[in-house]
Amino acid sequence: KNRVTPVTLQKMKGKTPIVALTAYEKPMAELIDPHVDMIIVGDSVGMVVYGQDSTLGVTLEMMINHGLAVTRGAAHACVIIDMPFGSYQESPQQAFRHASQVLIRTGAQAVKLEGGAEMLATTRFLTQRGIPVMPHIGLMPQHVNQLGGFKTQARDATAIEALVRLAKDFEQAGAFSILIEGTSELAARTVTAEVSIPVIGIGASPACDGQVLVTEDILGLFSDYTPKFAKRYIDLGPLITHACAEYAREVRTAEFPTTEHCFGLSQTTKITAD
Ligand code: KIV
Ligand code: NA
Repeated sequence: KNRVTPVTLQKMKGKTPIVALTAYEKPMAELIDPHVDMIIVGDSVGMVVYGQDSTLGVTLEMMINHGLAVTRGAAHACVIIDMPFGSYQESPQQAFRHASQVLIRTGAQAVKLEGGAEMLATTRFLTQRGIPVMPHIGLMPQHVNQLGGFKTQARDATAIEALVRLAKDFEQAGAFSILIEGTSELAARTVTAEVSIPVIGIGASPACDGQVLVTEDILGLFSDYTPKFAKRYIDLGPLITHACAEYAREVRTAEFPTTEHCFGLSQTTKITAD
């Protein structure tokens, strides 16, 4: 089978754009799998599926369950699972214990974790022990309580230099790829040019080696919070509303179900007791 692996993705840098989308369950994973190189099981599941107002309420069990659902639907794409808040920040050992559980129980290929320089040792620890790591830099939604909202990162020269330094350090620490979110365009472009591992952007730059968006955002299935970078390719919400309204009307007018939708003998057969 032509399974995309972290190694495949590394070979794509500078040659072909890497396409990524998120998924949280098997049916969606099956639909997007033929079209993408990478499926990220994001902790955005907390906001998109569970209606939480940040990603902080997502647990390791939630990520494992959604990760397992996605790997069941993805035959081709490289599946990467977000490490949720609190499951990896304590120590490299804690991160390895939980990341190994994620890979063992889901069959995914890699994990993604948010962080700055404090995550370099953990990235090295995991990669040296067989777990491919994708650091998530720039805007880190798990830091929302300190950021005071989702704000663009790395806007001035000093901050851009620091982010480039960080990206290079993650490459040195063994990261197979980097996800960069919500920075100035210049920051994402510079990071992409300065490292030799693939950089996947969201709200970042067209110059990134690949792009990712939240699938529900491109389909019009999530509207609680729509960032500027979330381009909507179809608006499925009204189609679903229409289908549900039709079904409800047909049940109420006894148009559905008809005998075609029922099992067994036709209504013309008479059953008489004794
Ligand atoms: O949680 C998420 O959906 C993400 C995306 C940026 C991939 O981290
Ligand atoms: Na995430």
